[in-house]
Amino acid sequence: MRGAAGADENLIFERRESAVRSYCRQFDSVFDTAEGSVVRDVAGREYLDFVAGAGSLNYGHNDPDMRDALIAHLEHHGMSHSLDLSSSTKSAFLTAFESLVLLPRELDYRVQFTGPTGANAVEAALKLARKVTGRTNVVAFTNAFHGVSLGALAATGNRHHRVGPQLPLPGVTRMPYDGYQGAGIDTADLLARMLGDPSSGLDAPAAILLETVQGEGGLNVASAGWLRRIAELARSSGALLVVDDVQAGCGRTGTFFSFEPYGIAPDLVVLSKSISGYGLPMALLLIRPEYDVWQPGEHNGTFRGNGHAFVTAQVALTKFWAGTDFTTDVARRADLLAIRLAEVADAVPGAVVKGRGMMRGVDVGSGELASAISRRCFADGLMLETAGPHDQVVKVLAPLTTPDELLNHGLDILLAATRTVAAQQPVGSEQVVGSEQAVAAQQPVGSEQAGQAKQAVGSERDVRGSSGLVPA
Ligand SMILES: Cc1ncc(COP(=O)(O)O)c(C=O)c1O
Repeated sequence: MRGAAGADENLIFERRESAVRSYCRQFDSVFDTAEGSVVRDVAGREYLDFVAGAGSLNYGHNDPDMRDALIAHLEHHGMSHSLDLSSSTKSAFLTAFESLVLLPRELDYRVQFTGPTGANAVEAALKLARKVTGRTNVVAFTNAFHGVSLGALAATGNRHHRVGPQLPLPGVTRMPYDGYQGAGIDTADLLARMLGDPSSGLDAPAAILLETVQGEGGLNVASAGWLRRIAELARSSGALLVVDDVQAGCGRTGTFFSFEPYGIAPDLVVLSKSISGYGLPMALLLIRPEYDVWQPGEHNGTFRGNGHAFVTAQVALTKFWAGTDFTTDVARRADLLAIRLAEVADAVPGAVVKGRGMMRGVDVGSGELASAISRRCFADGLMLETAGPHDQVVKVLAPLTTPDELLNHGLDILLAATRTVAAQQPVGSEQVVGSEQAVAAQQPVGSEQAGQAKQAVGSERDVRGSSGLVPA
């Protein structure tokens, strides 16, 4: 009896699994099956999944076409593991990636299959940029998240993660992300000034590494103008522009690559999470051909040839990216999401909607409040996580394929939970938000100014939480 076994099944995790586990503490159930945007636990209880594998399930759970292709692959003894050997499945994936992603966007990249995590692909990017330029330093930004292996962690801002290794995390200069210093301050000015000043103390960078929307950092959106300036600064300073599209890529912001609307062409692009389409481990580093200076095997890893991931990734590209229907659908859903989240923000004094595309959430001003909302949602059948330096952003990462009806249903749960939790706040404990945040809330959703002003919201708190500044 599955349902009856639930409690016992839970005990084994407490008894045997490392204390490092985290999501399962927030979503305290034993999960069993999943389809589309819905997961079921062993007791048969259903939850809407707006965590989507932290952005690894942009096409939902167990897409039927990917599943059928995978079953067919298994049944004809297709290779599951192939190091970096040439294989029929890798060939099919690369052909689809070339014809459906690169060529239509006039992008010319070599594809490196790294070890299967985002962090490993970031490691490869930083290593390669250093090799290409012969420089050590990398510019990364406040509130950035690039993974937790040492090289990637050096570029990650979050203190909780940075203190873990008890080691210096060298080779990175932290600069303020767009909006970090408040509305009206263009943080690219500071970078330009420091790059141009031989006595600024900023060593010439091998790379400027950024997310166009900072996912873990609290759904901070870089404006088009800022991104273009940073791209130009990378070019003029001889640094490689590296876009970490691990979370914002694969359609999450509305286009396949998050940087497409801005007319910038990064030198290196990091992809992982949803690239396999099915939640299978896979990561890529895209390299402009002139920078593909690796020696054979110089950055290697045993699990670079996941045959199952190649199969599902190829189906994902063919199914969703061959025409424009999917992007049109995602754009419509993103508008719906923005409108509904504005209602949620209205339920908390000073709260603001953040993010872009289907990568949005609401900054409710405190981690306690955001966490209480998330807990209440879970009790009511909706899973969503929190983000930001103080976990103060309730984050919606619904699968991009979520039918409107389910999206609305989940957002109804979120709205009701937010109203309930906000009403329980003691009088006078209104969450946060100074005048800047209130001003930001009045900006049209998605406007560049809104992006900048809204990010100002967390600035002071960011200095303590995820700025990249580690206490002595
Ligand atoms: C932007 C970004 N880069 C890198 C990573 C690290 O990916 P992984 O957890 O697969 O190592 C993440 C994970 O959330 C991410 O959001």
